[in-house]
Amino acid sequence: MPPRILVVDDEQHIREGIGEFFRGEGYAVSLAEDGNQGLAAVRGGDIDVVITDLRMPGMSGETLIEEALKINTGMPIIVLTAHGSVENAVECMRKGAYEYRTKPVDLKELALLVQRALSVRALEKENENLHIQLQNRFGLTNIVGHSPEMERVFDQVRTVAPTKANVLITGESGTGKELIANAVHLLSERARHPFVKVHCSALAPGLLESELFGHEKGAFTGASRLHRGRFELANQGTLFLDEIGEIDAAIQVKLLRVLQEKKFERVGGEETISVDVRLVTATNRDLYRMVQEGTFREDLYYRLKVVHIHVPPIRERRSDIPLLVTSFLKEFCRENGTMEKKIDRRAMAALEQYRWGGNVREMKNLMENLVVMSKGPVIQYADLPEYIRDEKQPDTITLPAGKKLEEYEKEIILANLAWVNGNKSRAAEVLGIGRKTLHRKLEEYGYSVSE
Ligand SMILES: Nc1ncnc2c1ncn2[C@@H]1O[C@H](COP(=O)(O)OP(=O)(O)OP(=O)(O)O)[C@@H](O)[C@H]1O
Ligand SMILES: [Mg+2]
Repeated sequence: MPPRILVVDDEQHIREGIGEFFRGEGYAVSLAEDGNQGLAAVRGGDIDVVITDLRMPGMSGETLIEEALKINTGMPIIVLTAHGSVENAVECMRKGAYEYRTKPVDLKELALLVQRALSVRALEKENENLHIQLQNRFGLTNIVGHSPEMERVFDQVRTVAPTKANVLITGESGTGKELIANAVHLLSERARHPFVKVHCSALAPGLLESELFGHEKGAFTGASRLHRGRFELANQGTLFLDEIGEIDAAIQVKLLRVLQEKKFERVGGEETISVDVRLVTATNRDLYRMVQEGTFREDLYYRLKVVHIHVPPIRERRSDIPLLVTSFLKEFCRENGTMEKKIDRRAMAALEQYRWGGNVREMKNLMENLVVMSKGPVIQYADLPEYIRDEKQPDTITLPAGKKLEEYEKEIILANLAWVNGNKSRAAEVLGIGRKTLHRKLEEYGYSVSE
């Protein structure tokens, strides 16, 4: 499709003259008698370049420029102006017009101008697309997973990202909580502003407070300069508080106040500072339980988890394993400049069986190690570390009908204990009960249990 030029001029012979010339040059042309008609054409949506007169009855060229750019930002607009009103034309440039020419206009020159405007615009568009691609790349598309469980997480991210809601991300260590937090930021309108991360457990409480809220010069010994906190640095962007379960009572109170009033003072300061920050928090602890036990404020808890995204551990989405394995293989082979390695079926099956207590982080580290250490182009079962090869296929437990529940329980517990070679912590993990509970039950069955 040829590019479409809109010519806006109240003088019929000029309008039609220019239109006819550009048709002859192979362009599609729309004509308008004044600003209002011109704007209607722009609303129509398929205009690539506008050539407009300034002084027209009804809506002037100036207003047309402003309004048209609201509809189509970046669309090139070329202004034609009579001798003696160059000042107006300059004013138009300030409003976003691409260029101006004085009448009578040299059509050949105008054609060159249009060509140039179109190629500049094409470049700009390509740039915008690249920017979007980049966003996608570091938004959700770099998070590997196609299991229904992960699809659900992606869905939640896409839904919540553009909103103002605070997001609480939970999940075991290494499940990808930080990636998700980053995606929430990148898919929001705040993406152009900072994503600031604070590791709450890495700092002593006093330090954490001034890290978050900043401090005035002289606030305490060693505070030799004013220090802006992460809340200030994250203004208009997203603040990601990792391991939120670790913050102490005093900081919980201060955090609550920022969330309620969007205001705070630096440590040792009087001045009240206002910020616009979206809070994303993450934890691998059971915050709800902490609320019940009284170690985490309930009011804060509900403000943090306006939306709650839970990232399931790998063992609850095993169908993601092959995809994760192959994508990490690809990534690390590329990084190491080696030819792309494959993985043999038996090795893959073992990886699919394995428990992945450290979740994706554990898998990622293992894949890097395998890429570096395995000799051939195909990673074999024998290349896997012993603890993975040792993992046995689960035994099948046959349970005859007609027994008491507690008898079944005993059989299930003992069978699982045997499966993990008598390792009680592992058995408790597999069964999803506490170690103490397991010990108590074993004692009930008459086993002597020593720690
Ligand atoms: N679905 C995934 N696809 C690709 N890489 C992933 C995925 N999930 C996690 N990772 C990678 O695994 C590592 C751990 O992820 P991340 O740091 O986000 O986990 P986490 O849940 O924040 O862990 P922790 O609770 O220990 O802080 C990172 O290198 C991350 O890039
Ligand atoms: Mg993390």
